[in-house]
Amino acid sequence: MLPAYVPNPVAALVGGGTPIDLGKNFSDGKRVLGDGKTFRGLIMGITAGIGIGLVQIVLSGTYHLVSLPEHTVMSVILLATGALLGDLCKSFFKRRLGKERGRKWPVADQYDLVAGSLLLVLLVEPRWLFANLSIPIFVAVLILTPLLHRAVNLIGYHLKVKEVPW
Ligand code: CTP
Ligand code: MG
Repeated sequence: MLPAYVPNPVAALVGGGTPIDLGKNFSDGKRVLGDGKTFRGLIMGITAGIGIGLVQIVLSGTYHLVSLPEHTVMSVILLATGALLGDLCKSFFKRRLGKERGRKWPVADQYDLVAGSLLLVLLVEPRWLFANLSIPIFVAVLILTPLLHRAVNLIGYHLKVKEVPW
């Protein structure tokens, strides 16, 4: 899941500049996505996620301490891209609910990247998903994701990279 986990923190680190919705409002008068979703965060985040996945592919032939799913270039691209597409979709619906940028939206804020990344793999490369995502791994992902999300966001908040600790 590393290629799906890395894009969000990297986007938080380097994001900024032109928002993806170009500052425009939706028909409900609220922002389409908000200032928290920028081109730089999206592109750099996806690039970093793909980068970590390529490192995993290179290292996978080197270490066999534990048997981990084998990535392919495609699985890495799909996980990294899906993670931030899930984040974008989450923000679209968050704005429709009237929640401002950065406000808390429990469950959705934690699982957007899991839903986005796994759904994109399911759509484009279902064979990879069923060959590698066993039920125990899926359960581990569901348990670990909110814990990692909280830990990384607390670190980001104390480093003053994030404005809120969630
Ligand atoms: N970020 C970005 N571009 C993205 C995603 C994130 O620039 N595509 C940056 C923004 O600076 C954002 C930060 O990463 O504020 C944290 O991301 P996130 O928590 O997803 O955004 P929020 O500001 O909380 O906005 P939202 O309420 O829409 O989730
Ligand atoms: Mg947020």
